[in-house]
Amino acid sequence: MNRRSLVALSVAAAIGAAATPSFAADAKAGRALAEKWCASCHVIGPDSQGAAADSAPTFVSIANRQGTTEAGVQTFLADPHKEAMKGIVLPRLEVADLAAYIVSLKEPEK
Ligand code: HEC
Repeated sequence: MNRRSLVALSVAAAIGAAATPSFAADAKAGRALAEKWCASCHVIGPDSQGAAADSAPTFVSIANRQGTTEAGVQTFLADPHKEAMKGIVLPRLEVADLAAYIVSLKEPEK
């Protein structure tokens, strides 16, 4: 194989990798989004603590509530729920990731 076709091959491979987005909700991406957009008010994970607003429920407590579902959280997040969030419009995929993340925090029944 000559050098030029090798380059062409690796470019094709790189494009192929970039063009394979995951449409499945991604809880890991949701966690990163939560750190960015939600942590100022919510305690967003079992391992995070601190300067969250008193009135905002922790994500773990939301996950463990009876009746919490991914679809329910998505519906809730379709509208900004606080004055401070009015400027934040979350794309549908990010809402899905966030919902997947929150629901993933559910603790096993004891
Ligand atoms: C400005 C503060 C603030 C920010 C930022 C914020 N929240 Fe909240 N959130 C609250 C408060 C306060 C409540 C409880 C009262 C209410 O529902 O409005 C709440 C409630 C919730 C609930 C629970 C709804 C229920 O069923 O009780 C969910 C889910 C939620 N927030 C998700 C998020 C996510 C995801 C983000 C980041 C994209 C976020 N919040 C960012 C303040 C905030």
